[in-house]
Amino acid sequence: MVRIQGALPDRYTAATQEELSSWIAAAKATLGDRLLILGHHYQREEVMRWADARGDSFGLSRLAAASVAEYIVFCGVHFMAESADVLTGGTRHVILPDLNAGCSMADMADLDSVEEAWDALAAVTDIERIVPITYMNASAALKAFVGRHGGAVCTSSNARAVVTWALARGDKLLFFPDQHLGRNTGFQLGLGAGDMRVWDPKRDLGGLDEVDVKEATLLLWKGHCSVHQRFKVAHIEAFRTEHPDGIVVVHPECSHEVVEVADEVGSTDHIIRVVEAAPAGSVIAVATEIHLVQRLAAEHPDRTVVSLDPLICPCSTMFRIDAAHLAWVLENLVDGEVVNRITVDGETAEWARVALQRMLEIT
Ligand code: 13P
Ligand code: SF4
Repeated sequence: MVRIQGALPDRYTAATQEELSSWIAAAKATLGDRLLILGHHYQREEVMRWADARGDSFGLSRLAAASVAEYIVFCGVHFMAESADVLTGGTRHVILPDLNAGCSMADMADLDSVEEAWDALAAVTDIERIVPITYMNASAALKAFVGRHGGAVCTSSNARAVVTWALARGDKLLFFPDQHLGRNTGFQLGLGAGDMRVWDPKRDLGGLDEVDVKEATLLLWKGHCSVHQRFKVAHIEAFRTEHPDGIVVVHPECSHEVVEVADEVGSTDHIIRVVEAAPAGSVIAVATEIHLVQRLAAEHPDRTVVSLDPLICPCSTMFRIDAAHLAWVLENLVDGEVVNRITVDGETAEWARVALQRMLEIT
């Protein structure tokens, strides 16, 4: 989805890192506890050092929900800022420093195509028995769709609990937009490959026939993360040849083939815990976004932490948030101007909140 972020004023584009740092520090001091800066683990260091709290998308959504700050500056991507606005009931100013910080996976499912899928499913099966589940990485409109239809949101740290909850409520799940998280969760819960089908939104009936739809327990939207799909089994084999005692930890947005042979799988918070728990001297290969891998390496000099893919894998949208954009939004707040506020309209927010609250209650 294209959102328009205008060019920053020259003051910010021409500034040195030292100048930006001193402006951010001054603005933070002026705004005090009226301001909460949240940083997702994939943020670059020049941004993350200013975060009042860091976390995975689940942790950050809980922090946003509990916050009383007037301004929440969300250093992450668009769907996270939207969720923060929804969870705070529009009572805070949620700000995304660069409006173009989206998520290519979230853009792989939109309301029109999910509604089309729902109608197509209704024509061949009992739609009342299908529970829609959206990964957090989706627009508020999709979270609202899920809320309206008795489903819930999940994140990579609670997908198992949410899918278990949904399976107790229906015969089938329509899981979007990440097929990999859906598939990995299905396998974790004991489903077999034959219980899952990929739903291709570009094809009639998702590219399936009626028998497929009737047999499937999990219908997996054909979406993926371009960062995590790069990790391959061959990377794990190469790492293990070099480090037979090494530890491989991967994010569940990686393919099932990769997850199956990894030592550990989990959200960004889980990845951090695995590295923290590893004994000094361990060699750990991590399959996730490179800024988190680099931070873990820097924070644990007594362990060797490397990217599973030796070629760098940045998330290009997370990367859009930099010190210049952060300084710009903060200095505007000091001047009484709210720029880049993310808001979700009333009805969408109401139903999206239902879906998010269900997730928070389940977990
Ligand atoms: P986490 O919920 O693990 O932070 O993941 C979010 C994400 O976008 C991973 O690509
Ligand atoms: Fe989206 Fe992938 Fe970036 Fe996560 S890493 S925000 S899923 S594009």
